[in-house]
Amino acid sequence: MNAVPRDVMPVSGTAGAPSPGDRFWRRLGGVAFGGDYNPEQWPAETRAEDLRLMADARVNLVTVGVFAWARVEPTRGAYDFSFFDQVLDDLHAHGITADLATMTASPPPWLVHEHPEILPVTSDGTVLGPGGRQHFCPSSPVYRERAALLVERLATHYRGHPALGLWHVGNEYGCHIGACYCEVSADDFRRWLRERYAGDIEALNDAWSTDFWSQRYASFDHIRPPRVAPTYPNPAQRLDYMRFSNEALRGCLELEAGILRRITPEVPITTNFLMGLKAVDVFDWAPKVDVVSVDSYPDPHDERPHLLPGLLYDTMRGAGGGAPWILMEQAPSAVNWRARNAIKQPGRMRLWSWQAVAHGADAILYFQWRQSRGGAEKFHSGMVPHAGTDSRVYREIAALGRELARVPDLPGTRVRNQVAILLDWNNWWALELDSHPSDGVRHEERLLDHYAPLFELGVGVDVVPPSADLTGYALVVVPNLYLLSDENARNLSAYVSGGGALVVSFFSGIVDEHDRVHLGGYPAPLREVLGVRVEEFCPAAERETFPVRGCGALADVEGVADLWREDLRLTGAEPELVFESPDWAGRPAVTRHRFGEGVSRYLSTRLDEATMRAVLGRALTEAGVTPVVEGLPSGVQASVRTGAGRRFLILLNHTGDKHDIAVGGEWADALAPSEAVAGIVTLPPWGVAVLRGTESVDQASN
Ligand code: GLA
Ligand code: GLA
Repeated sequence: MNAVPRDVMPVSGTAGAPSPGDRFWRRLGGVAFGGDYNPEQWPAETRAEDLRLMADARVNLVTVGVFAWARVEPTRGAYDFSFFDQVLDDLHAHGITADLATMTASPPPWLVHEHPEILPVTSDGTVLGPGGRQHFCPSSPVYRERAALLVERLATHYRGHPALGLWHVGNEYGCHIGACYCEVSADDFRRWLRERYAGDIEALNDAWSTDFWSQRYASFDHIRPPRVAPTYPNPAQRLDYMRFSNEALRGCLELEAGILRRITPEVPITTNFLMGLKAVDVFDWAPKVDVVSVDSYPDPHDERPHLLPGLLYDTMRGAGGGAPWILMEQAPSAVNWRARNAIKQPGRMRLWSWQAVAHGADAILYFQWRQSRGGAEKFHSGMVPHAGTDSRVYREIAALGRELARVPDLPGTRVRNQVAILLDWNNWWALELDSHPSDGVRHEERLLDHYAPLFELGVGVDVVPPSADLTGYALVVVPNLYLLSDENARNLSAYVSGGGALVVSFFSGIVDEHDRVHLGGYPAPLREVLGVRVEEFCPAAERETFPVRGCGALADVEGVADLWREDLRLTGAEPELVFESPDWAGRPAVTRHRFGEGVSRYLSTRLDEATMRAVLGRALTEAGVTPVVEGLPSGVQASVRTGAGRRFLILLNHTGDKHDIAVGGEWADALAPSEAVAGIVTLPPWGVAVLRGTESVDQASN
């Protein structure tokens, strides 16, 4: 994996030839607003109304044609773009930019009829039928050939069309089909393995530990995908299959992107990543697109529905090297695909949209413009709902569109943070393999154990891979990084010895890139930097808890741990928090160690959130990191965006209470310019404030 540089993309308007991505952002001339537009589902009169309403709601960017393959190629080779010619002409006439899809996300019936072998197969051998979408094997040469032919025709046909601002390649790759286990995939996997292991079957035997359970291979030809087996399939084989499947899907993107870049080099490319999707390594894919975009569907029934999106938005910004990104899809209100589909209560859609902006998004889009009348998603909300425009949902949408239009100079500013959380898809894949000490070390939940307290402490974070250049960060937090290569471990050690502050959680540094244990006591490649040695993991029973208490600077901390303990020996580190349970009294739960010029901490257990806040708060104080705004009430978020001489402070109230927030410095209300801000901003329940800095900002500090 490549290091993801921070802040390397030029802020729009700075020197150098503008990239296709930069041109796209400039063309929009402000925060983009819009959604998936599926006019093929509607009669002509409705489409005329759509254009009027889009102007009313200040829509300036729509995604068109995502599921239109069957319409533009109704039978093999019979391309007919006339419908979309009209749509794009109309959009252009109304000043709306098209994010034109390559239409390859749902193969048409004729293709499945002629080539049923393109259908994907699950690990238990079930062939998945058409009738839904994404029913293709990513390795299928037939699917790829027909997709490439369509993209070639589309790009040639729409080259130079004034509405075309962005290519939307595929749709949510890996959402339904993260991996296919058919014979075509099996062949492709063998090809991939030959390349990965340079044709050396002994290298594969070594990497996969195949002497375990008599799996030694004599030839690459004998290898199959890790299909359902009598017991746990080989974990290294499964890990490689996830890597292979990630690359097979990425191959579909790259195939289309190559064609588009050849025919329309000036038009940028995106593909919409999906919040929380394990199958697609966003850090690996992001360099293949010009603009990062993501779909985000928080569950309004969650207690803190803003946390997981925040983490994912920070990941998207990290993947794009700090560049602006597109919130490509969110629901205007309810979705249709959960067991119980909560609506977004009044104000939440606005709040969560501004939340994306606070995390660096310069485009706020939805699925979808008009709520469908038929089909599987008819109960998924739309910007124009079944009830029509005389509805709460439409009124909130139109109000937000107008509100975003009041800050045309917000794009071009960036979010800059001093704290990083490390995330690595290879680790995610390996961490959640089976036959581990505890099934409770689930990636997303454990990430949130670290993210939530930082959020509550009022500190913004960047999410970056462990290979990233960490030197600019004051604090780096490493949640449960089970899979850690020696190279990445050296990156962490060098960061601390050079003066950095590191916090590492249990079950980190356990295996190498082939899921083989680093020997000699865990976490072998991090023992030195952490000053600890772990002899044995001691996973807790469900609901088992352990009292803990702080020492030294944390002496007044009392809390509870659960999930995990370790037989932890100190080899230089000092305890900062100890267990109090009778069987474990005085044994270290959290340690602190000076290493080179820096400081590292190790957490050998899962702490309750308040205790985690105390530990991370201490690490932040030591590292000299202060909150964006001091003394924020719980659930209130602050984010600063700066750049090109401008400065914005965005305040978000994720609670049902009114809060008065004291903001230092000089600010004006960016949404109601006549309102002066006299030191205190009142946030109504679920409210938002967007403030513009009135002090001059040093250009050099951008
Ligand atoms: C059984 C098997 C062993 C081993 C153990 C693990 O006893 O015979 O090979 O898998 O289970 O508990
Ligand atoms: C995804 C898809 C959309 C739509 C929405 C519904 O994000 O990309 O086509 O199905 O889900 O939530």
